[in-house]
Amino acid sequence: MEQEKAPLYEAVSKYIKRKMIPFHMPGHSQGKGAPRILKKLFGEKFFDFDLTEVSGLDYLHYAQGVIREAENLASKLYGTESTIFLINGTTAGVHAMILDSVKENEKIIIGRNSHRSVIGGILLARAKPVFVEPEFNEEFGIITNLTVEEIEKAIKENPDAKVLLVTTPNYYGLQGRVKDIIDLGHKYGLRVLIDEAHGAHFPFNEKFPKSAIYLGADLVTQSAHKTLPTLTQTSFLHIPSKSVNVDRVEQVLSIIESSSPSYIFMTALDVARREMALHGKEMWDRAIEVAEYAREKISALQGFKVITEKIVNGIDIYAFDPIKLTINVEDLGYSGFEFEHFLNKNGIEIELADLQNVLLFITVGTSKRDIDILLSVLRKVQPKKEKNKIKMERTPKAPPFAMMPFETLKKDFEVIPLKEAKGRVSWGIVAPYPPGIPVLAPGMVIDDDCIDFIDEVFKYGGLVQGSVRQGSEIAIRVVKGV
Ligand SMILES: Cc1ncc(COP(=O)(O)O)c(C=O)c1O
Repeated sequence: MEQEKAPLYEAVSKYIKRKMIPFHMPGHSQGKGAPRILKKLFGEKFFDFDLTEVSGLDYLHYAQGVIREAENLASKLYGTESTIFLINGTTAGVHAMILDSVKENEKIIIGRNSHRSVIGGILLARAKPVFVEPEFNEEFGIITNLTVEEIEKAIKENPDAKVLLVTTPNYYGLQGRVKDIIDLGHKYGLRVLIDEAHGAHFPFNEKFPKSAIYLGADLVTQSAHKTLPTLTQTSFLHIPSKSVNVDRVEQVLSIIESSSPSYIFMTALDVARREMALHGKEMWDRAIEVAEYAREKISALQGFKVITEKIVNGIDIYAFDPIKLTINVEDLGYSGFEFEHFLNKNGIEIELADLQNVLLFITVGTSKRDIDILLSVLRKVQPKKEKNKIKMERTPKAPPFAMMPFETLKKDFEVIPLKEAKGRVSWGIVAPYPPGIPVLAPGMVIDDDCIDFIDEVFKYGGLVQGSVRQGSEIAIRVVKGV
């Protein structure tokens, strides 16, 4: 079977066996010069694999040999026209999709729930963002997805927009009406880009939502590293559609990504693809079973609530990804941030906390035993006497832009207390992290709602990227003199 092959892994392994004398990058010379602590930490073999583009191992940005073979196998598995390996995460995929699709000063319609990489891509492309407000689930206090109606309104109000970029599923595994959204964009002649960072596993089990790859999207990017058994920073850019010129996309990627791609990363992608092709279905069956077990047991505990399939409403939530385990701790009186701290102290590391919830990822590596340990920690929780009355608010509506994001790059900034920032223009991206959804993008006029929202997240222990800590207060960077 073709998918049994792992061309890149095989080629690198064969190369290592030749025991070549290295007179090339990287500077550790296949481990011979590597610091001892690193050798101890990673093992000798690790450095053997950390090759550069040596003879016979192809070039990521001019792939014609084993890297192309590996990408072609990924493309066949995912059922795309082309699939390209990314070594700078989905951030690179998002940047490439935008840079390939929108020209300077052109409008791109995006969700207010977009990841910071979308703002970064728009800044690089010198494009104009038009925001669509997503829906909000009051029960769990989480942003969900864009609706077809809101997107259509934005398209009608901006008939000169050329591109629609939609982020779905969200971090919590809630997917919007992707097919209808893609069809809508195409009806109005827009190119449709999908940030499916959290959906690289979707094709491998029928219980997962359907990937946008099969629903007509022009370009789809996925963080392989978020859910598949591969290494951090490894992602895919999928080109499902013949309407996209692959050469152009590759040209963009060769500009924005490193010219020294890690063979450890690329080999990891090759092997993870093989793993999914051969064993994906059973692996995910097991992971889903573990997640269902966790949901059943946790929801039976006093004070805990979990997101289940029942959250699907067919409007802003069309499908639920069962490997995402969202635990709501509101009734126990804790904020999600406080609860994360408690879990951490008890040896449990989670993916994300917000004001009301903690989010745990179940992967092909999670066992029922892990869940049992989690349960034993959860059983220790004492409800707080003084209840946390804080409810997550929806991200405030996008304030207007005083200047386009790219224009701020040419401006100086000054740091001022957040509380004094009303009416000033944000210089940076200000985003609670995770999930990395910017409350402020460069060029936005800061309003009271944004100030209150950021202050709230900060006050309750959330990390706000792009802010500056000044003792117990929070400050931000604003454009100087504006
Ligand atoms: C929705 C979304 N898009 C894009 C990204 C960026 O992905 P990466 O970390 O692979 O660069 C993330 C990361 O969290 C994300 O959540």
